[in-house]
Amino acid sequence: MIQFYHVTKSYGGPRPAVSDVTFQLKKGEMVYLTGPSGAGKSTIIKLILCAEEPNDGQILVAGRNVARLKQKDIPGLRRSIGVVFQDFKLIERKSIFENVALSLRVAGAREEKIREKTDSVLKALDIYKKKDSYPLELSGGEQQRAALARALVKEPVILLADEPTGNLDYDTTRIIMGIIKDINALGTTIILATHNRELIEMMPRRLLHIDAGVVNE
Ligand SMILES: Nc1ncnc2c1ncn2[C@@H]1O[C@H](COP(=O)(O)OP(=O)(O)OP(=O)(O)O)[C@@H](O)[C@H]1O
Ligand SMILES: [Mg+2]
Repeated sequence: MIQFYHVTKSYGGPRPAVSDVTFQLKKGEMVYLTGPSGAGKSTIIKLILCAEEPNDGQILVAGRNVARLKQKDIPGLRRSIGVVFQDFKLIERKSIFENVALSLRVAGAREEKIREKTDSVLKALDIYKKKDSYPLELSGGEQQRAALARALVKEPVILLADEPTGNLDYDTTRIIMGIIKDINALGTTIILATHNRELIEMMPRRLLHIDAGVVNE
């Protein structure tokens, strides 16, 4: 489902952010991408989304060569991927409901379907009562759950979650990890970037460790 072959990405600094990285993820598999701050975790997620271009190597996502995608094909790739960004990237001038509903609207879903699916995912993430609030009116943990709701509402083939529990307390983290487990059991391929070892203990899965841009299994 996701394949990296000798991928290097440099932002122009003294060493590449990601260096000669090779790994493969099968459909339905889940991995933790672990490693210290600055190791290159978010960069790997951005490369999969085609938000950054590699300097070298090949990236295949759902059979598509990401480096060779034309600009017009990028939205198609992103439609099949749910992303929880480390900094959430919620749209400040839209309500939580509208943030979560947006991908369904763009895909042309019917109003009734949009309401049904959006309400259901907001309830599952226990954020339904904030649906008419705006992102800046929410706590960090609430924004994080809204960001996860937005990633999940479109029932993505791939979920990329960058520190999705970084702002949550232990009990909420357990609930969120339960939801992620269920989604994985339904066949979604998942990459979860984190430096929190507690998550891994809660739900052990394959580990890809990255340090200074170099990946080790
Ligand atoms: N847009 C950018 N421009 C320049 N350098 C960048 C950029 N984004 C990331 N870097 C650098 O690339 C390296 C890897 O960053 P990245 O964000 O991938 O790390 P990370 O593992 O996600 O860290 P954290 O755990 O703190 O989120 C760091 O040295 C960082 O400073
Ligand atoms: Mg990061």
